[in-house]
Amino acid sequence: MTAFERTVRPVLFRLGGGDAEKAHEFTLGRLSRLGERTRSLLTSRYATDAPVEVFGVRFPNAVGLAAGMDKNGVALRAWPALGFGFVEVGTVTAHAQPGNDKPRLFRLRDSEAIINRMGFNNAGAAALAARLEALGPVGVPLGVSLGKSKVTPLEEAVEDYLTSYRLLHKYADYIAVNVSSPNTPGLRTLQDKSAIAGLLAALVGKVPVLVKIAPDLAEPAIAELLEVCLSHGAAGVIATNTTLARDGLAATDQARAAEAGGLSGGPLTEKARKVVHFVHTETDGRLPIIGVGGIMCADDATRLLDAGASLVQLYSGFIYHGPALVRGAARAAARQAGPQHADARDGRAR
Ligand SMILES: Cc1cc2nc3c(=O)[nH]c(=O)nc-3n(C[C@H](O)[C@H](O)[C@H](O)COP(=O)(O)O)c2cc1C
Repeated sequence: MTAFERTVRPVLFRLGGGDAEKAHEFTLGRLSRLGERTRSLLTSRYATDAPVEVFGVRFPNAVGLAAGMDKNGVALRAWPALGFGFVEVGTVTAHAQPGNDKPRLFRLRDSEAIINRMGFNNAGAAALAARLEALGPVGVPLGVSLGKSKVTPLEEAVEDYLTSYRLLHKYADYIAVNVSSPNTPGLRTLQDKSAIAGLLAALVGKVPVLVKIAPDLAEPAIAELLEVCLSHGAAGVIATNTTLARDGLAATDQARAAEAGGLSGGPLTEKARKVVHFVHTETDGRLPIIGVGGIMCADDATRLLDAGASLVQLYSGFIYHGPALVRGAARAAARQAGPQHADARDGRAR
């Protein structure tokens, strides 16, 4: 057991009588207030220097923070200190919105999983732009994830994404087009061929644009979407978002499994890997992939890279295993990438 698992996790999991969202807010608050000295101590413990270049962007290491953890970018200085080689903020929407009613975030502990139906609670694209403007450079590449506002009808989705894009693209090293959250009614239909073509035609240009896909899409639908990504200049694909399926859960988590929302963590590992493998083979490796879903140990990260991902991201694994997982995954990725990353291979973090 790591120090995080022994001492930090039990405290966080007990906070607010076990309310996962309270623990999330508490943690974000603490991380946003970390002083420079603490950050530099954390950096020396957790940061891994093993640069990779993907879609023209240089990443200090291959392991990023997945979208949804820091939707409003409140703790941006903390994530690199915890070892992340890039951070995806958001998903933000053109209009600020409260998201779904609480409770809307649940831990399924024996399965190392999470169910969420947050519904893009966020302070809006303009607020994020103001925060990023005030903050200056973060130190690692920044992805900005865009979604559709709940009040905007699906037919006006392109304009809604464009509003956010115009406000935020200058702060972003890449833009993620989130069309795969299960928690905004109708959003996933934007993965259809013609809808995604319209979105990419509007957004592709100044900054690399990646499309984040659901693990529940059938292969022919993914193949169609990939064709559009290739023909419309998408810089890559992020695979995958949470799943609506409920396979692979521990018996003790069955009651919680009935909660509506997207499932992430342990039960998603294989499914995400299969999608990454499919995207990689279907495109002959022409479309860079950020692999995400169920990375719960360093080997899960290397298997996702083996399946064809160029970078990976974590969310649930970080909740259950903390920053040692980020470091372990980044070092494992570096070892897999080869001899140019001697420092990371020796286990030395800089
Ligand atoms: C509480 C929570 C909120 C999330 N919010 C977003 C989001 O706003 N945008 C997004 O693209 N993905 C979101 N995700 C999905 C994650 O980015 C990731 O794709 C998914 O959880 C699978 O990775 P994991 O198994 O490492 O958690 C969210 C996940 C969780 C658990």
